[in-house]
Amino acid sequence: GTAHAQNAFVTADRMVDVESGRLIENAAVLIEDGKVKFAGDMSTVRMAIPEDATRIDLSGYTLLPGLIDMHVHLTSSSDYHGYRGLALSDEMSAIIGVVNAQTTLDAGFTTVRNVGAGSFGDVALRDAINQGMIPGPRMFVSGPSIGITGGHCSDNNLLPEEYKLEGEGVADGPWAARSAVRKNIKYGADLIKTCSTGGVLSKGTKVGAPQYTVEELTALTEEAHSHGLKVASHAHGAEGIRNALMAGVDTIEHASFIDDEGIRLAKKNGAYLSMDIYVTEYILGEGEAAGILEESLEKERMTGQTQRDNFRKAHEAGVKMVLGTDAGVYPHGQNARQLSRMTRFGMTSAEALQAATVNAADALGKGDTIGKLAPGYFADIIAVQGNPLDYISILESVDFVMKEGVVYKSVD
Ligand code: ARG
Repeated sequence: GTAHAQNAFVTADRMVDVESGRLIENAAVLIEDGKVKFAGDMSTVRMAIPEDATRIDLSGYTLLPGLIDMHVHLTSSSDYHGYRGLALSDEMSAIIGVVNAQTTLDAGFTTVRNVGAGSFGDVALRDAINQGMIPGPRMFVSGPSIGITGGHCSDNNLLPEEYKLEGEGVADGPWAARSAVRKNIKYGADLIKTCSTGGVLSKGTKVGAPQYTVEELTALTEEAHSHGLKVASHAHGAEGIRNALMAGVDTIEHASFIDDEGIRLAKKNGAYLSMDIYVTEYILGEGEAAGILEESLEKERMTGQTQRDNFRKAHEAGVKMVLGTDAGVYPHGQNARQLSRMTRFGMTSAEALQAATVNAADALGKGDTIGKLAPGYFADIIAVQGNPLDYISILESVDFVMKEGVVYKSVD
């Protein structure tokens, strides 16, 4: 159930300090007006605990900052793959979004970046959550993805020409791309999502083929940056990854076939990679039954393992990484499954946790308010049984969720 705890004093057996990757025993967090006043070892609290603070006793549990997923589609569902998607109305997408927002928050994700949604359903969802109408994670949203005619981001290639089906994010040429950015900002986007290569799940696109020229990507990125918005570029193929990085985008989504030059550029720019290395298991395991096109399954067979190998390579080379899962392609709420894959392919548990907290917060430009438990930060707190530094998969079973001082999931 939900309860309001604007002022609270939370105690637990331990807390993960995600930045240092260390455990703090006998943890305590003091929360006032939805923000952390103190977080650390209980014996070092040097302030009076207000009388009205709700005591929340989480003995037996480990506290962590709420998790952040940098690549979700809350208004999408794995029930509508391939041609099934043509039956999905904007209204149904919005309702699906309401359900998925709750599921995602319950799973311990207190913040998400939603990278691509039709009809600004993501803006409505974000606003409804912020107004307290419905429970859900804090959302940073892109509105419709922007891309080329026939592109992975923007268009829909499922029907022949006589149906005149065109996706809403189509923008060809630098000025059209700038205009599309301006329109998304006008209707409430917090960031811009584009595509600089084809994709796995879009009909008729090639993962290795660039989409947009560097000139178009540069115009789009300059326009977004001039308004203070960051740019996320979907890119599997090496050339499209390089193009996006040359244009100055902030994050590369998927990054499957990143080459040495892409790795060099990402490091030079301080760009983050958001590599969704869990979803391949869902697509290859359950994708056919879920309606994913055979041509997409074939593309996934050519992509998944290389992406995992390149995740290891890029991480070893020191490229910055965030957790981004593409939940929506697979069921929402299973976002944390990717963390164990990130450790399997080269990260320590602490690094995987950092990708899902402090690094993600930094990539959002919100490193001063979310991603860790420290004074002045939002009281976004989750609790699990056991030590996630020893067993990262415990984060697939989050028992307690607080967002901005409000308890959404409690242990009793
Ligand atoms: N939305 C992405 C696309 O269609 C999903 C890619 C999933 N595959 C992977 N190996 N990460 O391109």
